[in-house]
Amino acid sequence: MAGTGIYEAGNERDVWRREILTLTGFGGEALLLGGAVPARAQIKKEVRVMAYTAKDYLKLLGMEGLSETLLKNHFTLYQGYVTNTNKVLDALEQMLKEGKSGTPEFAEMKRRQGWEFNGMRLHEYYFENLGGKTGIDKDGRLAKKLIEDFGSYDAWEKDFKATGTMRGIGWVVLYQDITNGKLINFWINEHDVSHPAGCNPLLIMDVFEHAFMLDYGLKRADYIGAFFKNIDWKVVEARLK
Ligand SMILES: [Fe+2]
Repeated sequence: MAGTGIYEAGNERDVWRREILTLTGFGGEALLLGGAVPARAQIKKEVRVMAYTAKDYLKLLGMEGLSETLLKNHFTLYQGYVTNTNKVLDALEQMLKEGKSGTPEFAEMKRRQGWEFNGMRLHEYYFENLGGKTGIDKDGRLAKKLIEDFGSYDAWEKDFKATGTMRGIGWVVLYQDITNGKLINFWINEHDVSHPAGCNPLLIMDVFEHAFMLDYGLKRADYIGAFFKNIDWKVVEARLK
């Protein structure tokens, strides 16, 4: 039985199109690490699958208050986070294999991992909690929980919107603390600072300038108003544990 491993063609590593030589015809499949390829071996090339793939949110085009140009730009930015998350994960894996885990380059890349990953995942939560046509179900579990934890729906909304109009770039996230079920609005600085550990994200709002400036200039509150008109409350409520 042949050994297993990955053969990388050429000197320059191409993480996106790394080819894997798969040998067949020897009573099963095996991957070959370097060395000579047996003449009888049948060789086929496979493209390595990326860890993450960008999702398609084109169905959101046409939402009231968010232009097609703004949304398409936003989708492109999101796709960049997916690409960079894959690149960072791959680069870290490679450095580990090459014995470079003790280097400043590894440390800096490791710090970058949380920023890129959260930039990807938060956008997915954000786009997925948009596209709704109706308000919150006032008799639903989520509305009841908001009233329980904030005193009223309006008090929660006021706190969420006030958090969104804070100076700075980042996100507003309605989190559920799964240790006691409590709902809390959090400000997330950029993509990665001040996420509460072990909590469950319910409603995510992007307040980076790219999310609104094209349509609203500096009027962030108007963007937040448009965001609220398009929340898919069914998705948000389904996230509640
Ligand atoms: Fe964004």
